[in-house]
Formats: sequence, C-alpha cells, structure tokens
Amino acid sequence: MLVSATEMLKKAKEGHYAVGQFNINNLEWTKSVLLTAEELKSPVILGVSEGAGKYMTGFGTVAAMVKAMHDELGITVPVALHLDHGTYEGCYKCIKAGFTSIMFDGSHYPIDENVAKTKELVSVAHAMGMSIEAEVGSIGGEEDGVVGMGECADPDECKRVADLGADPEECKAVADLGVTMLAAGIGNIHGKYPANWQGLSFETLDAIQQKTGVMPLVLHGGTGIPADMIKKAIDLGVSKINVNTECQLSFADATRKYIEAGKDLEGKGFDPRKLLAPGAEAIKATVKEKMELFGSVGKAE
Ligand code: 13P
Repeated sequence: MLVSATEMLKKAKEGHYAVGQFNINNLEWTKSVLLTAEELKSPVILGVSEGAGKYMTGFGTVAAMVKAMHDELGITVPVALHLDHGTYEGCYKCIKAGFTSIMFDGSHYPIDENVAKTKELVSVAHAMGMSIEAEVGSIGGEEDGVVGMGECADPDECKRVADLGADPEECKAVADLGVTMLAAGIGNIHGKYPANWQGLSFETLDAIQQKTGVMPLVLHGGTGIPADMIKKAIDLGVSKINVNTECQLSFADATRKYIEAGKDLEGKGFDPRKLLAPGAEAIKATVKEKMELFGSVGKAE
C-alpha cells in the first residue's frame, strides 16, 4: 500500500537524514526508482509534476500504474506518491486520483492568498490522511513550465505557513502540524546550476528552521548541488530533497551511448526492452548515489 509522506519525514527529521523525492516520467522511471528503494531498504517519494502527469495521460493513470507496480514488484519500503508543484486545481485532481501526498505551490500568490489556499488544502489533505507540502519563496529555474526567480524565502512568511493548523512551538511532533513539509527557497534552482551560481543560502535556511521548529524542510533542485552543501542542508533541518533533472541526464547519456555504439542495430537491439535498459540502469545508479548521500539507506528496515 502506498503511504503518505508524514511518517517517513518525521523519522527523517528525528534521525537527521533526508528522504529523496525522485520525479517519474514513465514506467521505466517508476520501476527503476521503486526497485532501487527496495534494494537499499530506503523510504522514497515518487514525484509527479503536472506536466509529467499530463504526459502519462492523467493523474488517474499514474496512480493506477504506481499502485499496481508497487504491489506486483512486492515493494515493502514506504512509498509515497506525491504531486510536485501542484496548482490549486491539480491538488484536487490528485486527491481524487488516489495520490497519497500533494504539494501546493502557492509561492507566486501574494502571501495572504498563499496562506488561505494552503490552509484550505491542509484541511482536505488531513481529512484524506494525505501529507501536504507548501512553498514560500520561489525555487529558481524552470520545471515543466513552472518558472521561478530563485529568491530566498522570508522566514516570517515561512512561519505563517508552518503555523497553519497548529503552532510549531507548541507541537511535540511533526504529525501534529498542519503542513507536513515546507519548501522554502534558499537560492536553489531547478535544472542545471549555472557556472556563476552563488550556492545555497545557509543563513536563510538557518533562520527559517529557527522560525519553523520541527517542520521538515524540503530542498528542491537537488540536481548538481555539491555533496558538502547537501550534508550541511540536512544538518540545518532539510528532510526531503527533490531530484529530477539528474535522472533525466543519466538516462539520456546511457541511451545515447547505446545508440552511438550501434547496439540498436545488432540483432534485436531495437527492442524497446533492450533499447531502454541502459537508461533504466543509469537511473538506478543515480538514485542509489543520492540515497547514499541523503543517508536514507537502511532506514526502512
Ligand atoms: P532538479 O530537476 O533540479 O533535480 O529539481 C527537482 C525538483 O526540485 C522537483 O520539484
């Protein structure tokens, strides 16, 4: 059974490691991520952007595929199916489709509107036993049409969103909070980082964590962040790290090598099960590397 991300993030926060969110695009992606999580006994979050959901013909298709694959593969580690950067309407579609977690990205709204919409979705998500991620301060770059400037979040605005449902300072457990996890911009960017990137703002991250207490923080744009920065971000309260582009790059690289070596022209090398295999293996290797870096290996045992 798929689960919400609440319990796994609570444990990650307490255990000072991070759970990886790996975005999926199709059957191969889903299979590679699930098999790697199971092999490494790591909890995992499958992220689905609105664009990827549309590509896979709708959130209903995605939920049905993931649930069936999870059961057919006999996956025993905790797996959450999560909407990534959801619109208000997209959140309701995923709730209906059977996702176990949603992200409402209200960062482009004025803060009062972001708070009001997030608050409404928090109560719906809670009623459905789902986890919910909120965002304050946009993540830079572009992902499936969601464009952000990459400004750092205002710690006081983070506190307002983190306080929805309950006051973190009065909460003993993350499960008592309204919002399950909070994505706050700290100079992170979706996609490849430019050569002149200034790095993560640990000052902002620290200030946000001080204001939001036990709230698990989410680091988007996990592709290309150096290992030492990842470790420091986890030390400062990040409990979930999103990776998308890096799996795409590994897949493309391995597929290109297969074709450039002319393997698709040898025997039945054009069979999609053969053609897509190196890419699927490359995704597994990337996911493994990230889970090891994030410290989530063995945490589902
Ligand atoms: P990257 O594509 O940079 O890894 O970012 C993924 C992400 O943050 C998904 O929301």
